[in-house]
Amino acid sequence: MQDYREFLDEILISEDKLQARIRELAQEISHDYEGKDLLLICILRGGVMFLTDLMRALKIPHSIDFMAVSSYGAGARHSSGQVRITLDLTASIEERDVLLVEDIIDSGYTIASVLELLNARRPKSLKVCTLLDKAERRETDVPIHYCGFVIPNKFVFGYGLDLDEYYRNLPFIGVVRPDKYLAPD
Ligand code: IMP
Ligand code: MG
Repeated sequence: MQDYREFLDEILISEDKLQARIRELAQEISHDYEGKDLLLICILRGGVMFLTDLMRALKIPHSIDFMAVSSYGAGARHSSGQVRITLDLTASIEERDVLLVEDIIDSGYTIASVLELLNARRPKSLKVCTLLDKAERRETDVPIHYCGFVIPNKFVFGYGLDLDEYYRNLPFIGVVRPDKYLAPD
């Protein structure tokens, strides 16, 4: 596999900026969920780095769980926006205060569909925390309660986000060189 530098156009968000913003978000969440029974749900795999740093910065007790979803076939998320659960949660979320932890919200279809699925399980509350928001790409309304950074419409990788499943380990968010990125549709 090639070195990530082959694909990197520029660093969009440095490690320092990411960590500083995550500490701010954690403070806000620690304040808002004080005294509540907080359950963080991470959507695999992109949200993993964000989840683990966020957890370490939280000052309140909380538990975590994971789920994975996939779109129904190529291009499906642009029409119906429905997703299929490929890995379900380990425990019930009934009466829990649930906070969904996502890497990035793009069209919004993934998170909208996950919210619908989870709301049916009757959590006490259900909110969304995303590290990145590609706001200008939004195609469906989604409530975002906590957002790290609004970013431009560019394909990014690193810090959990992949480029064909590689480079999730990078500690920063980088922009893919335009000549190296082939849009999925
Ligand atoms: P949405 O359903 O269009 O909001 O897509 C969200 C999902 O698409 C994210 O969870 C990512 O897996 C993926 N995605 C969207 N934009 C990017 C990007 O710039 N880099 C890497 N993955 C992305
Ligand atoms: Mg992905």
